[in-house]
Amino acid sequence: MLVLGLETSCDETGVALFDTEKGLLAEELHSQVDLHAVYGGVVPEIASRDHLKRLLPLTRAVLESAGVERPDLIAYTAGPGLVGALMVGAGMANGLGAAWGCPVVPVHHMEGHLVAPMLEDDPPEYPFLALLVSGGHTMLVWIEALGDYQVLGSTLDDAVGEAFDKTAKLLGLGYPGGPALAKLAESGDDTAFAFPRPMVNRPGFDFSFSGLKTSVMLKVRAAEQDGSLDSSRADLAASFQRAVVDTLIKRTLKAAGEKSAERVVVAGGVGANQLLRAELADSFAGSVYYPRLRFCTDNGAMIAVAGALRSGDAEEPATIHARARWSLETLSRPAIGK
Ligand code: KG4
Ligand code: ZN
Repeated sequence: MLVLGLETSCDETGVALFDTEKGLLAEELHSQVDLHAVYGGVVPEIASRDHLKRLLPLTRAVLESAGVERPDLIAYTAGPGLVGALMVGAGMANGLGAAWGCPVVPVHHMEGHLVAPMLEDDPPEYPFLALLVSGGHTMLVWIEALGDYQVLGSTLDDAVGEAFDKTAKLLGLGYPGGPALAKLAESGDDTAFAFPRPMVNRPGFDFSFSGLKTSVMLKVRAAEQDGSLDSSRADLAASFQRAVVDTLIKRTLKAAGEKSAERVVVAGGVGANQLLRAELADSFAGSVYYPRLRFCTDNGAMIAVAGALRSGDAEEPATIHARARWSLETLSRPAIGK
């Protein structure tokens, strides 16, 4: 079965074609980062308009490069995300489905991130623990099977990617700041500032990052006042990154212990962070799985794979599903062999 995946939940337009026998055939990604950078964050209206402009040319490019005329199924991100941006993808999927006479399947964006490691040569087996770390989410999820999710903990305030982005902004690094902050941290001393490891001694598995961000802000203000900001920027970045990674690792190891997990999957944009990867590999005794770097952040390939796994849930192209908020735990296992 040939599955076309469309991702438009935020500021990347992703299109991919996945063959359930041969794997990924073609993939295109367009990032809107430059459009939003001047505003310091994603502007929803601009995002929707740009998805509308890019989606069809990218789809054509993917089909042409795979030498395919039409897919057998179209998967699209139905949420959570920016509702206008989601409606562009949902509308396009349903329109193409009606024109081609093929069914469509709405996909949960975070389920897409969860199954992204299935695109790699050595995919994880169920059950596994997932650490989902993106610009919009921070979650520890126990996964028995596709659609069988127990959210063990999530963030009480900022998502971890958001904390990276906001801290990067404080340090004058522009948007999106996560990768830039991680780069700057390479040349800093991560013991220079003693930032808190929020929540690590609390029961449960929830996270909180807004207090950490405030601690960095206070240090930045103090450094601005005494004229030491330029010389301490890298140290601030390294100490912040170390505090975040320590927190993520402690919570993940605790959850893995409680569930006797043998496998941990790290997914979402912050999964691209090299310190997080290195520390988890060092401290977790079982196997750790990641998508390749390109598929850590938003992309069409993960939506195509999720759609292939959910082909039993496919429907006639008649209904636009687009939900700004959508709990992962409300999903169920896919219907089989419709
Ligand atoms: O999954 P994603 O592409 O979009 C959402 O669904 O949110 O994640 C984007 C987030 C941004 O906050 C970005 O700053 C962060 O992932 N990110 C990183 C790194 N690469 C991307 N954060 C820390 N270190 C990185 N190397
Ligand atoms: Zn995402």
